[in-house]
Amino acid sequence: MSVMTKTIAEETGGQIYQPLLCKIGSKRVLTPLETLFRIELPEGRELGHRPGQFVQVSILGYGEAPISISSSPTRKGYFELGVRNAGTLTGAMHELKEGDKIGIRGPFGTFFDAEKLAGKDLVLIAGGCGLAPMRSLIQYCEDRPSEFGKLTILYGAKTPGDRLYKEDLVEWGNSNTFACNYAVDGVPDGACFDEGQVGLITVLIPPLSLDVQNTVAVIVGPPVMYKFVIAELKKKGLTEEQIVVSLERYMKCGVGKCGHCAIEHLYCCIDGPVFWLNEISGIRGAI
Ligand SMILES: Cc1cc2nc3c(=O)[nH]c(=O)nc-3n(C[C@H](O)[C@H](O)[C@H](O)COP(=O)(O)OP(=O)(O)OC[C@H]3O[C@@H](n4cnc5c(N)ncnc54)[C@H](O)[C@@H]3O)c2cc1C
Ligand code: FES
Repeated sequence: MSVMTKTIAEETGGQIYQPLLCKIGSKRVLTPLETLFRIELPEGRELGHRPGQFVQVSILGYGEAPISISSSPTRKGYFELGVRNAGTLTGAMHELKEGDKIGIRGPFGTFFDAEKLAGKDLVLIAGGCGLAPMRSLIQYCEDRPSEFGKLTILYGAKTPGDRLYKEDLVEWGNSNTFACNYAVDGVPDGACFDEGQVGLITVLIPPLSLDVQNTVAVIVGPPVMYKFVIAELKKKGLTEEQIVVSLERYMKCGVGKCGHCAIEHLYCCIDGPVFWLNEISGIRGAI
């Protein structure tokens, strides 16, 4: 492998515990709470990630947190993180300026396997912040549409103002690559929403016209969403072998050592976060 394609783990001699200092190339405000950080590795190196993976972000004195990689590996020279200002580390990150440095370990975790998804019609279903990891797969599909069949995006958020990546939502909606269906739970007084339906994300599933034998659904969202979305997909005829989920659990080490992310015998950080539903269907607390 050439030096230009080394991953961070290779960069640090395979040392998964040691953060590499990377530069914040740019910041873009997504919502009052969420910002998109474009991160550049030293000397133009690539992260070497796959869609659905995450990194551990650290700032000296503020700790570390897992954050999904929000851009596709097909976009070279940087990677992006969509971060909610939720606490100690993410709050400190929002205070940083372009040009400041953060520590990065990773990429970690399982991923949306483009080889296994090749040739399939994909229904990409994201709720709320779930669009952060899903965006990596959406961009991948956007850059390599010939590898897949029909591509459908379903996105739901609480209100129109809570929607992430609004510019991307418009772009995907206008493209010939995707069929996009959006929903919001509700519209506050004075706001307007004419780009989709008002209702929970599940309202978007019954009208879908699916080639059931050749479809895979991918789901990322808040825990409450999975049970209901999966039930609707099963009503359409999809089996657990045709559903991929990404699960979020509280994590510390990110590399299978501390046990914080355990779901029965599985560690979400190394066995997940991406699972085929049939792999976890019997596991209590997984969904
Ligand atoms: C695989 C993965 C991917 C993620 N991707 C993203 C992403 O793309 N963007 C994003 O914004 N966030 C993402 N997160 C969530 C993010 O890692 C957490 O919100 C993290 O806690 C933020 O760190 P912090 O120091 O800013 O917040 P903290 O100071 O840790 O506080 C954040 C929240 O976590 C709660 N908390 C603190 N300790 C515990 C505990 N022991 N158990 C349960 N709850 C606790 C706090 O009460 C608070 O509500 C992801 C998490 C995982 C596991
Ligand atoms: S976060 Fe430590 S084992 Fe998964």
